[in-house]
Amino acid sequence: ARENQTYPYEVIQEIADFIVKGSGMRPRIGIICGSGLGSLADIIQDAKVFEYEKIPNFPVSTVEGHAGKLVVGNLEGACVMAMQGRFHFYEGYPLAKCSMPVRVMKLCGVEYLFATNAAGGINPKYMVGDIMLMHDHVNMLGFAGNSPLQGPNDPRFGPRFPALVNSYNKDLINKALEIGKAMGIESNMHVGVYSCLGGPTYETIAELKALRLMGVDAVGMSTVHEVITARHCDMKVFAFSLITNKCSIEYDDKRDQEANHEEVMAVAKNRQKACCELVSRLIREIHAM
Ligand code: 6GU
Repeated sequence: ARENQTYPYEVIQEIADFIVKGSGMRPRIGIICGSGLGSLADIIQDAKVFEYEKIPNFPVSTVEGHAGKLVVGNLEGACVMAMQGRFHFYEGYPLAKCSMPVRVMKLCGVEYLFATNAAGGINPKYMVGDIMLMHDHVNMLGFAGNSPLQGPNDPRFGPRFPALVNSYNKDLINKALEIGKAMGIESNMHVGVYSCLGGPTYETIAELKALRLMGVDAVGMSTVHEVITARHCDMKVFAFSLITNKCSIEYDDKRDQEANHEEVMAVAKNRQKACCELVSRLIREIHAM
């Protein structure tokens, strides 16, 4: 059975103190590295690294392509804190546990959450290697009665019934689009709707058709619960998906249409540089503000 684990405020505070004292830094921007995008953490300078096992009360991630460490340091002059390796629902953790690190970030002083993921492209215009800036989401786990905010609400984090409209910061999306233009990748950049499913299975064709009818552009197994937790405690959110595979919605498609983890990782590896540059440049702009 899945116990509904919420972490008391004091436990989150202890972890945050451990990281702030241990690093001697107070990060302002939090980054969650998606599958194959761990290099986002590798470009951090003067890095202080905390392996998840060595952080008191921290969960440990089990997925290939997710390292399992917190990296605190400088990126483009800003103090940042990056999770190399996130926690997924399909690993068996309750959502509150999956997104607990977002609250740790908050109590460390983080104001901005940058969440990244690898996702399947459902919008037929999306190509492998494209970047989709998230401007909204469809929370399938929420439809099924799951939320990282289930259980008693601690008002020190946020309200019992938080609104989620405009969760994805419009200024940051617009800045990212400008940066995409400057990088010459604007034709490989989209603004769209992400949906999170529980996984670990990829979608059936009938499920993909249903998601498309709902207005979903890209699908994955993460991010939404982290965004919910971040918005609950009033962080500004920027999120994007790297499209690692195209989801075919035709039963008789002659292309090899089966999504697989190896393909996802290979595409992410190819596009890490562009993703790192986008994140770096956006952080430079935030830091200048
Ligand atoms: Cl096709 N589906 C899901 N759920 N997650 C993914 C994916 C697809 N491709 C990368 N991550």
